[in-house]
Amino acid sequence: MATGEELRGLMRLWPHGVSILSIDVEGDRMGVTVSSLVSLSLEPPLVGVSIGKDASCYELLRSAGRFAVSLLGAEQEELARRFAAGYPPIVHWQGVPTREGAVAPLIEGALGWIEAETHTEADAGDHTFFIADVLSIEHGPSHHALVYRESTYHSV
Ligand SMILES: Cc1cc2nc3c(=O)[nH]c(=O)nc-3n(C[C@H](O)[C@H](O)[C@H](O)COP(=O)(O)O)c2cc1C
Repeated sequence: MATGEELRGLMRLWPHGVSILSIDVEGDRMGVTVSSLVSLSLEPPLVGVSIGKDASCYELLRSAGRFAVSLLGAEQEELARRFAAGYPPIVHWQGVPTREGAVAPLIEGALGWIEAETHTEADAGDHTFFIADVLSIEHGPSHHALVYRESTYHSV
């Protein structure tokens, strides 16, 4: 069997789009930078996202049962860095332009937004893969996606 380091070593060469997943449980808000967002099915519309079991948002995400994803535009690298930095939630959101989505805050200026409701949590080693029904889709003003490859952000 291959090692996790071997998997990481190859996948870091493979470009991934960058999003911020957000959660709101009665005003308790968290956000985390993710590159694991994937479109899984069109009929019904399903997305998936893989979240580390040690991530600080993990338990809140499980209890929320729903989440939003802001697909970042190329100009939003600073936000990607901020929400990956492991700051306390209050610091994450300070000065970030957001608006209220149906289930969680949406980050303004993004390429687009997805809101979703978890229907399956699949155990995936040190992560859980959340499969979710897409509740809403919206396009944003950004025209270039923020992409991560080899620990560097790029515009595509
Ligand atoms: C570009 C990028 C993509 C990431 N994608 C994921 C992801 O898909 N799932 C995940 O659990 N963590 C992902 N992370 C890590 C989290 O953003 C975060 O750094 C980690 O959860 C540690 O912060 P915490 O201690 O607040 O949980 C990613 C980080 C970066 C920089």
